[in-house]
Amino acid sequence: MKVLIIGSGGRESAMVWKISKSKLSPKIYAAPGNPGMEGLAELVNIAATDIHALLEFAVNEKIDFTIVGPDDPLALGVVDVFEEKGLKIFGPRKNAAIIEYSKEFSKDFMKRNNIPTAAYEVFEDKDKAYAYIEKQKFPIVIKADGLALGKGVYICGDLTESRLAVQDIMELSKFGDSGKKIVVEEYLEGVEVSVLSFVDGKTVVPMISAKDHKRAFDGDKGANTGGMGAVAPNPIYDEEMANRCMDEIFAPTVAAMAKEDREFKGFLFFGLMITKNGPKVIEYNARLGDPETQVVLPMLESDFLKICIDCLDGSLDKADIRWKEGASVCVVLASEGYPAEFKKGFEIKGLSLIEEKEDIFIFTAGVKKENERFLTNGGRVLGVAAMADNSLEAANKAYAYAEHIVFENKYCRKDIGRK
Ligand code: AMP
Ligand code: GLY
Repeated sequence: MKVLIIGSGGRESAMVWKISKSKLSPKIYAAPGNPGMEGLAELVNIAATDIHALLEFAVNEKIDFTIVGPDDPLALGVVDVFEEKGLKIFGPRKNAAIIEYSKEFSKDFMKRNNIPTAAYEVFEDKDKAYAYIEKQKFPIVIKADGLALGKGVYICGDLTESRLAVQDIMELSKFGDSGKKIVVEEYLEGVEVSVLSFVDGKTVVPMISAKDHKRAFDGDKGANTGGMGAVAPNPIYDEEMANRCMDEIFAPTVAAMAKEDREFKGFLFFGLMITKNGPKVIEYNARLGDPETQVVLPMLESDFLKICIDCLDGSLDKADIRWKEGASVCVVLASEGYPAEFKKGFEIKGLSLIEEKEDIFIFTAGVKKENERFLTNGGRVLGVAAMADNSLEAANKAYAYAEHIVFENKYCRKDIGRK
């Protein structure tokens, strides 16, 4: 069968690798993919957001099954246009992907369905927003309503920071139309957990839990990034908490989406804060997480592609989903300066293609290829993931291998999986 993966980052590299192991022996295409995937997937030079060109390709190539990686094509309705042509595509339709692309929708949805989340207010008028923040206790959290590459969130310690956040989002339009509205919400104290899940419209099956490391520097300092590393499973997420999250959050979310005529099929990502008053939803994503996918998929014993097919068929309750024992850790090698200014175009040595040695995996992201050489081509260049009996051993393995990959301005956090 022919399978198309939409997207180009480390998450999609991990999907391509895992799907290449499927018993269904698929021929894999990635649009646009990245050159580190070559050997496992044929790259198709179409942007992830060019949904009409993707459709044309899928029709002409007779693609049997498509999986969507990033959020933008979902928000643009890629699933709807593929379905109109009778193509099989795994991901939520636009009316369900809204759970991620509008924070106003997701917050109102949680409120009306009694799903625990931070208290909040939504503003479309900047003067009202400024007036409101004057009266708040700090810290508070200010977010652009729409998609902002994970960067439209400001944790504000005082009034000055809060004013600057409103100014950035609403007056300077740093996130374009995504910042036409803002959500101002209560700051939640606790420990974060990422739970990715399979959803077939009715049934939700959580994957092994994960811990993301969003800040740029060790000890969770510095700017928020797209993610500098991840660990699975998340050490604080035990079975009791998993059961509680299923009852209070996962099952009610999927049931309420169906009830509101927004049936959700695809990957649903629960960004949770475990507070002293129980688990609360920070955000939903209508897709897999990056870099969580790079630690979760290596831990999956079963056939990922088969599970996605079962999910689309609505038979997730019968799917074979088993996980490995132990732990996995992914360390992201970035270009120094990321998430702000950084240089790119440096040769990457020690890398041929996605490698797989002794449970060590290289998942490429911001790379390009010129004259058979790999060059850096983005902020997050690649991830080195490793599995072992526990997270400390997995981290040591990943870091030891990461030493072999060399490029100018290489930067990584040193504390992933080591705390
Ligand atoms: P988001 O893009 O909504 O996941 O937010 C990015 C990060 O900001 C989250 O991973 C949290 O670390 C933090 N964050 C977002 N909302 C809150 C909140 N209400 N309280 C505390 N931290 C938050
Ligand atoms: N790792 C968080 C995300 O993918 O949004």
